[in-house]
Amino acid sequence: MTDHARRPTGWQLEQNASEAYERYLVPPMFAPWADQLVETSGISDGDRVLDVGCGTGIVARRAAPRVGTSGRVVGLDVNDGMLAVAEETATDSQPQIEWRRGDATDLPLPDEEFDAVCAQQSIQFVDDPTAAVEEIRRVLTPTGILTLSVWRPLEYHPAYAVLAEALERHVGDEAGTMMRSPFPDWNATDVRTLVLDAGFDDVSITVEIGSIRYPSVEAFVRREAASSPLSEPIAAVDRATRDDLLRDVEDEMRQYVDDDGIVSPMESYVVTATR
Ligand SMILES: C[S@@+](CC[C@H](N)C(=O)[O-])C[C@H]1O[C@@H](n2cnc3c(N)ncnc32)[C@H](O)[C@@H]1O
Repeated sequence: MTDHARRPTGWQLEQNASEAYERYLVPPMFAPWADQLVETSGISDGDRVLDVGCGTGIVARRAAPRVGTSGRVVGLDVNDGMLAVAEETATDSQPQIEWRRGDATDLPLPDEEFDAVCAQQSIQFVDDPTAAVEEIRRVLTPTGILTLSVWRPLEYHPAYAVLAEALERHVGDEAGTMMRSPFPDWNATDVRTLVLDAGFDDVSITVEIGSIRYPSVEAFVRREAASSPLSEPIAAVDRATRDDLLRDVEDEMRQYVDDDGIVSPMESYVVTATR
C-alpha cells in the first residue's frame, strides 16, 4: 500500500497543533476565561505580570493593555510550538510581551520580580504542581497576587467526558487518558491545599461555570483532535474507526444539540492568593 492510499481522506488532521489550538480553542474557550481571569487578578497600570504555562499567550495578550507601556508582561511556557504561535500572534501588543521558554517548576526568573502571576489551565499539566506554585510564590513581590484556574473534574464537562470515553473505545487507552488530563480529579480542598502548602496566605476559590459551543459534533471532535497531542493517536487509526468514533460521540451528545450546534457546560476553579 502506498503512503497515499494509507492516508484517510475523509478526515484530515491539521499539521500544527499549536496553530490549531490558537484558531479553534482560544476564541470560543480560552479567550473568554482569560478575560475573566485578568479581571479577577486586578492587574493595573504599571504592573509587572507573568503568565505561567502561557500556551499561545491569550492571558498575556489580555494583560498587556491593562499594564500599559509602564508595565511589563512575560509569557512562559515549556512548549516551543506554543511560544512560536504566541510570538506571531502578539506582534502588535503594547507593551511588547516577552516570551520565555521555561519550566514552571524551575522558573528562569529572579525572586520578587512580578506584581501578578497568572496561570490559566496550566498547573494541572505540570509534573510537580506544588513545586510550580512554590516557584510562582518566589517570583512574586511580597504584596504580589497569584490568580490561577484549573478545570473541575471531567464529570463537570459532559462533552469531554463523552469524548474521552469514545476515544478509549475506538482509539485506545492512551488517547482517553490524554483527553482526561486537562480535568484533574481535584476538589476545592485539594486546590486550596496545593496553594497553601506552597506558602500562600488568603487563598480564595470560586467555582465558575461557563460553556463551550461548536457548530456541530463533527467540528467539536475534529477541532479537539487537531489542537492537542491527540492528533497523533487519532492519525494512527483508519478512516472507518474515526467515523465510528464520530457516530458514537454524536449519539451520546444528542441531549446537548440545539439549533446552533452543540453546547456543553465547563466548570473551573478560579483561585486568587496573596503572597
Ligand atoms: C491548556 S494549555 C493552556 C495555555 C494558556 N494558559 C491558555 O489559557 O490558553 C496548557 C499549557 O501549559 C503548558 N505547560 C505544561 N507543562 C508545563 C511546565 N512544566 N512548565 C510550563 N508550561 C507548561 C503547556 O505547554 C501548554 O501550553
